[in-house]
Amino acid sequence: MIKFSASMLASNYGEFASEAVRAEKAGSDMIHMDVMDGVFVPQISFGQGVITAVRNAVQVPLDVHMMVTEPSRVIDAYLNCGLIPGKDYICVHVEAENHLQRLLAKIKQAGLKTGVALNPSTPVESLKYILDDIDMIIVMTVNPGYGGQKFIPACLQKIRDIRKIVDASGKKIDIEIDGGVNYLNASEIREAGATVLVAGTAVFTAEDPAQVIQKLKYE
Ligand code: DX5
Ligand code: ZN
Repeated sequence: MIKFSASMLASNYGEFASEAVRAEKAGSDMIHMDVMDGVFVPQISFGQGVITAVRNAVQVPLDVHMMVTEPSRVIDAYLNCGLIPGKDYICVHVEAENHLQRLLAKIKQAGLKTGVALNPSTPVESLKYILDDIDMIIVMTVNPGYGGQKFIPACLQKIRDIRKIVDASGKKIDIEIDGGVNYLNASEIREAGATVLVAGTAVFTAEDPAQVIQKLKYE
């Protein structure tokens, strides 16, 4: 079963809550929240206040994608912004944290689901010793920092490699694809072993977001 997560990065920033509701009504199975700190990536997007507002507006799970250097410095604020234990995800970049396992254990301790994100150039081996600690892997298929970028073709093989690692582990870990997902590559991405597709631009700029989500999931 493939899931879809709409990225709020491409939504109308004047209306986060109603934009999230619009995505939910269009059939988005989760809402993807791109937190950018202006250090790990050049832009600043939004933080825990916006997450609280969106959390209060929708029923579906949120997956918070922290593009933040040393997320352990700021994690407490995100553990206390209304995210729902057993339902919502906090995902951190493996490149951004020195004591990754400790941070993942702390997020789990708070009852939330955990994820790690890998930049396109980060090897899959970095997953090997943290498989016990995660519920989701975000495979970045663009270099993080901006919406509307082109999918990097080499990442397709990386998705297949990660699929093998997850299958061999026997664990139930979602594989989420983030960046440049569109009609042309969605079926290949699904065949490579993805379980969650993220898209921002394609959904929020569409006349009919429900149709976009259906096409990306099933066509
Ligand atoms: C990129 C973000 C993505 C982005 C995807 O740094 O992590 O979630 O919003 O946007 P599109 O769908 O435009 O590639
Ligand atoms: Zn993202």
